[in-house]
Amino acid sequence: MTRLSVNINKVATLRNARGGNNPNVLQVALDCERFGAQGITVHPRPDERHIRYQDVLDLKPVLTTEFNIEGNPKDRYMDLVLQVKPHQATLVPDAENVLTSNAGWNTVEYQAYLTDIISELKKHGIRTSIFVDPVEAMIEGAAKTGTDRIELYTEQYAKQFHGNPAEAVAPYVRCAKLAKELGLGVNAGHDLDLHNLRYLQQQIPFLDEVSIGHALICDAIYYGLENTIRLYRRQLEN
Ligand code: PXP
Repeated sequence: MTRLSVNINKVATLRNARGGNNPNVLQVALDCERFGAQGITVHPRPDERHIRYQDVLDLKPVLTTEFNIEGNPKDRYMDLVLQVKPHQATLVPDAENVLTSNAGWNTVEYQAYLTDIISELKKHGIRTSIFVDPVEAMIEGAAKTGTDRIELYTEQYAKQFHGNPAEAVAPYVRCAKLAKELGLGVNAGHDLDLHNLRYLQQQIPFLDEVSIGHALICDAIYYGLENTIRLYRRQLEN
């Protein structure tokens, strides 16, 4: 079964636009769970332009599904994650000035660094995942860090999907198989939507989790949040 983790950053972006508490991020997270989300993902960034560090602290005691915290494992992220102890920490090498995550780790260059961070997280019982591009050498590098999982960065897949789905998915299938052979779990995320999700899951049926934010929240404007989550879950039920 591939689990759907809903990334609620965009809900926080909407809330922050007016400075009050509408929409209520905590309530939306609980409703996502009630509507069928099997996990909640947040990606606090140092400028707190969407999810704030306080949101992460407030979410932990109320969530009943898997909690996944994404981010660049600098001091503030590590302090937060070690305090909150989510089910999963997804490490992303995002620079501070980017709109959204735009690259996977170079797991060869950063192998020693990632190995230290991962061992620290695992000492506290937190499952780890490393965000990577679909490149075999990066999967092999990830396996050497001791991480539990990788998250395949699917932006390229989403971009190429409409032109040639088979070509778009091929590197992801290769890397997912390699990751599995090396004993790693496989997550995927970025730009997944109602058009491209089912095909990815069919090609990688052992995918553990997808985390989806932007498209899902956009779809909720038209279909409503409850229907939208059901639609995404249906794409994953093959
Ligand atoms: N995975 C990671 C590591 C991300 O940074 C993001 C965006 O915050 C996502 C998944 C979700 O991407 P999207 O919002 O395009 O669904």
